Amino acid sequence: MAEKPLKGKRILVTGGAKRVGAVIVRTLFERGAEVIVHYHHSEAEAKELQKSLSRRSHPLRVVSFDLADIPEMRAKIGKLLEEIDHLDGLVCNAAVFFATPFFQVTEEQWDCILNVNLKSTFFLCQQVGKHMMEKGGGKIVLISDVSAGHPWPAYLPYTISKAGINHLARGLAKILAPKVTVNVVAPGTVLPAEGTPKTDLEVYRKKTLLKTLGSPKDVAESVCFLFEHSDFITGAIIPVDGGYDVQGG
Ligand SMILES: NC(=O)c1ccc[n+]([C@@H]2O[C@H](COP(=O)([O-])OP(=O)(O)OC[C@H]3O[C@@H](n4cnc5c(N)ncnc54)[C@H](OP(=O)(O)O)[C@@H]3O)[C@@H](O)[C@H]2O)c1
Repeated sequence: MAEKPLKGKRILVTGGAKRVGAVIVRTLFERGAEVIVHYHHSEAEAKELQKSLSRRSHPLRVVSFDLADIPEMRAKIGKLLEEIDHLDGLVCNAAVFFATPFFQVTEEQWDCILNVNLKSTFFLCQQVGKHMMEKGGGKIVLISDVSAGHPWPAYLPYTISKAGINHLARGLAKILAPKVTVNVVAPGTVLPAEGTPKTDLEVYRKKTLLKTLGSPKDVAESVCFLFEHSDFITGAIIPVDGGYDVQGG
C-alpha cells in the first residue's frame, strides 16, 4: 500500500472541531497527518472527533483557547510546542462571521471580528512562524474568503478582516521565506451559516461561473494540496469559489 503523503506531519487546525474546520481535520488525518485540533466552545465536538479518529499509533490531540485572548493563546501554544517538539503545519481556519450593517455596527462588534479573525492570526503566525524557522521549515495555510476582494456592505468588518488575511499572507511569505511557505485558501460559500435565507444562496450561486455552491471538502482538498505540493508555492491566494471572484462578485 502506498505511504500516506502527510504521514508524520504535525498540523494544527484552529477552529477544527466542527463545520469546515472538522472536514479539514478529517481530510488531513486521512492523508496521514498528526492533527492537533484547536477549539474554543465546541469541546464536545472536539472530543467526539478525537474519539472517532484517534488510533494508538496515530493520536489526535486537542488544544483549547480563546483566540481573542492573546496572552492565553501564547501560553497554550508555547506549552504545545514544548510538548510536541516540532509543528510542521498550521491552518488558521477559526473565524467569526455575522452581519454588521454599517450604521449599526458597534466598536465591540468591530473588535470581536478584527481580533478573532485578524489580530489572533497575526500573533499566532508570529509565534508559530518563529518556531518553524528555528526548526528548519513548515507550511502555513490561512483561510480567507472570496469577499476579501468584494466588500459586502452588510459585512464590512468581516470582509476587511479577510482582506487583512490576504495581505498578511503575502507579507508573511516574504518574512518567513525560504524555510516556511504561507498561502491562502479563499472559499466562496461552501457551508452557509445556520439561518441563511435560501434566496441569498441563490444569489451567490448565480454569481459563480460554475453555477453551484461549493462544499467544505473543496476547501479541505485545497488545503491538503498546499501541504502536499507547495514546495514551490508561497504567497498565493487560491480562490475556491466556483469562479465568483473572476466573475466580478
Ligand atoms: N462556511 C463558508 O461557506 C465559508 C465561506 C467563505 C469563507 N469561510 C471561512 O472558512 C473558515 C471556516 O468557516 P466556518 O463557516 O466553518 O467557520 P465558523 O463555523 O463560523 O467558525 C469556525 C470556528 O471558529 C472558532 N472560533 C470562533 N471564535 C473563536 C474564538 N474567539 N476563539 C477560538 N476559536 C474561535 C469556533 O470554534 P468553537 O466552535 O470551538 O468555539 C468555530 O467553530 C472561516 O475562516 C470562514 O471565514 C467559510
